[in-house]
Amino acid sequence: MDQKVFLISGGSSGLGLAIVEKLIRQPENAVISTSRSNEKIKRALEQYPSLKGKVLFLTGDVSKPEDCTKIKEQIESRYGKLHGLVNNAGVLTKGGMEMVSYDQWKFNLEVNLNGPYLLTQTLLPLLKKAKGASIVNVSSIASVRPGSSVAYSVSKAGLDMLTEFLAGDLGPYKIRVNSINPGLVKTNIHLDNQIVKDREAYENLLKNALPRYPIGRIGEPEDIANLAVFLLSDQADWITGSIIKIDGGAAVFNDLIPPK
Ligand SMILES: NC(=O)c1ccc[n+]([C@@H]2O[C@H](COP(=O)([O-])OP(=O)(O)OC[C@H]3O[C@@H](n4cnc5c(N)ncnc54)[C@H](OP(=O)(O)O)[C@@H]3O)[C@@H](O)[C@H]2O)c1
Repeated sequence: MDQKVFLISGGSSGLGLAIVEKLIRQPENAVISTSRSNEKIKRALEQYPSLKGKVLFLTGDVSKPEDCTKIKEQIESRYGKLHGLVNNAGVLTKGGMEMVSYDQWKFNLEVNLNGPYLLTQTLLPLLKKAKGASIVNVSSIASVRPGSSVAYSVSKAGLDMLTEFLAGDLGPYKIRVNSINPGLVKTNIHLDNQIVKDREAYENLLKNALPRYPIGRIGEPEDIANLAVFLLSDQADWITGSIIKIDGGAAVFNDLIPPK
């Protein structure tokens, strides 16, 4: 079978790591991922020994042009093209306008919106060479209804529009572009970004959120990986420009019809 080359930004933990883990199960796939930290790459490899020798981890910050260029050069020299890109790296700062400083606002937009724009633009020549590529942007249901962070929600709403715009823009190159919009999924994002202060507070957050999930459980990273890998595959060949909620039904609730 022909080799396919995939890049997942932020694959050192959470959803990105689950996507990486699922992609390497197919031996014909070449899987590349990024992290800002060698320490986190080491931890990921310890947690999943099966990744050793199968994933090429590159260091880089998706919001820095020089890092994106280095990532592109390394993929180009090894593989020459790219069949799939998952813009998964993301950050989250809690709060509304009175809590979130202008610097925090800019940080969320830099990583969650400018990052996918910059990485996609930098890698576009390699995506075109694949003659049939797929871009998956990891957004959030916070993009379609206000969540608990003004900066995060706005960055992800921008990402959804980028998805729709690029689907039209890049369609003629046979590049598909879709958004995955998860509800609450169990990862470290809330602890690492100080949304909750400790593990106990995180467990409370999950417990309090549960009644808003009609399907009766909070998401697992594998739920998101299943959809991402499908969208990357040829089976999704006629899907582009779609903003796909994956949230156990959470977004169907609204304040007029409160959960029981
Ligand atoms: N978990 C949820 O409930 C949930 C819900 C909806 C959407 N999402 C979205 O899912 C995506 C993944 O989040 P997660 O929950 O899996 O959290 P996570 O475990 O904290 O993963 C976030 C990843 O982003 C990377 N990252 C952050 N800033 C970066 C930067 N400037 N450059 C490169 N990489 C960067 C981190 O890598 P390093 O720290 O190693 O650099 C990390 O691997 C995010 O876009 C998030 O908004 C998550």
